[in-house]
Amino acid sequence: MTIKCRLGVDEFDSDNYFSIFMAAMHEAGCLDWVIHARIALLEGLSTKENREVPPLQYSRVWKLKELFPYARITINGGIDTAELVATQLQKVDGVMLGRWAITFPWDMRMLQEQYFSDNQSLLTRDELIEKYLAFLHKHHDDRDFAFSYKIRHLSALFSGESHARRWRSMIANSQNIEDVVVA
Ligand SMILES: Cc1cc2nc3c(=O)[nH]c(=O)nc-3n(C[C@H](O)[C@H](O)[C@H](O)COP(=O)(O)O)c2cc1C
Repeated sequence: MTIKCRLGVDEFDSDNYFSIFMAAMHEAGCLDWVIHARIALLEGLSTKENREVPPLQYSRVWKLKELFPYARITINGGIDTAELVATQLQKVDGVMLGRWAITFPWDMRMLQEQYFSDNQSLLTRDELIEKYLAFLHKHHDDRDFAFSYKIRHLSALFSGESHARRWRSMIANSQNIEDVVVA
């Protein structure tokens, strides 16, 4: 079991409160944590605002790792450069990336190259697009997800590069999988 949580909620945001929670969860057999290094403010902030407004408090997560060295702690929140990843990995066991991975998926290849030795499996961008299209073909009839949702990550593949907008609009203007394949 892995627990994914924040450092606190509203007034329940002290290190002491979180430590009691961790100790109780450890007692129940949970050693794996993903901690979003902010509290949540449920009164007055939207879900989106709650991802940005409460300040990041990385040092509180680092302190928890010191207090509970046997716990496997993955830190999350606002990590969007290779430098930040490297800094965090000196303090905790892992890093979880949310919006960076969604917005700049191709950057994940650089991290794969840097942190995982099995680089045989690194794909070129063309190979990746081919695989993605094969995935889309496979899930062509899957009505649980809208087409726009299925192509979301493909559409972000060139984010930050000069032709990113052209690529995005080409993908967005395709009405179905056949269009994407032809494009
Ligand atoms: C579109 C979107 C949906 C999310 N849905 C969930 C969710 O269902 N459960 C969850 O624990 N966190 C969810 N999160 C929060 C992320 O897991 C993560 O904690 C947060 O985005 C902070 O990390 P980041 O700064 O790397 O994005 C979501 C985030 C985004 C952007």
